[in-house]
Amino acid sequence: MTRAPRFFVTGTDTGVGKTQAAGALLALMVRAGHRPFAFKPYETGVEPGAEPEDAAHLRACAGGWQALDSVCLHRFVPPLAPGVAAERSPRPRAWQQTLATFRAFEGAGVVEGAGGLLVPLDARHQVVDLAEALALPVVLVARAGLGTLNHVGLSLEALRARKLRVAAVVLSRSTPKGDPSEASNPRWLRRLGVRVLGPVPFLPAPRARNAAFLRALSPLVPR
Ligand SMILES: Nc1ncnc2c1ncn2[C@@H]1O[C@H](COP(=O)(O)OP(=O)(O)OP(=O)(O)O)[C@@H](O)[C@H]1O
Ligand SMILES: [Mg+2]
Repeated sequence: MTRAPRFFVTGTDTGVGKTQAAGALLALMVRAGHRPFAFKPYETGVEPGAEPEDAAHLRACAGGWQALDSVCLHRFVPPLAPGVAAERSPRPRAWQQTLATFRAFEGAGVVEGAGGLLVPLDARHQVVDLAEALALPVVLVARAGLGTLNHVGLSLEALRARKLRVAAVVLSRSTPKGDPSEASNPRWLRRLGVRVLGPVPFLPAPRARNAAFLRALSPLVPR
């Protein structure tokens, strides 16, 4: 077995495919013989009594061995950025709890942020602060089509300002409508000095979609 791979998965926006990419990385780790941890410390839009959907997906991809409470620490009902939702129900020790829970994990694993890099997690921290504190190689998920050069460029600037290593940019099309920029975007993004994976095509069927993410991300997890 190779050295335990670990990644922090973030994105250029909400709804770009972070959970899909993080789940694929976990499944690849399981396939490579690891027992990875999934960590989605902040999840919003969780109705009372309902499971946090991202955390549940990641837990399943990781082999289902974790308690859901150790995958997702901080759940909020309103579908807002975690830091904005926390204004209504403050959790003063949330940040310390997040770091302490992470430190207890061993071996391979994947952490999913929330939204994009400058999204607030609480009154004092953004997702980029969490990426910096955990010091993991970053996987940046982005839209495949028009607008992505700007969004990826801005996100890379934010990551480079913190001297964070970018393992890859993953492109995915999460809407049916494509556009002509998809063909040239990978080449233009490589000029920014990053590894580009994908684009993953728009695939509404979950099995085909999961398989496509697995293929796209396989270079990041040696077997
Ligand atoms: N390549 C694709 N083809 C079809 N649907 C996709 C694709 N990628 C993502 N989706 C769908 O788009 C939606 C958003 O994807 P996902 O949940 O992975 O995004 P996210 O970045 O984790 O979102 P959030 O910010 O809410 O955590 C999901 O319903 C997912 O199934
Ligand atoms: Mg998600």
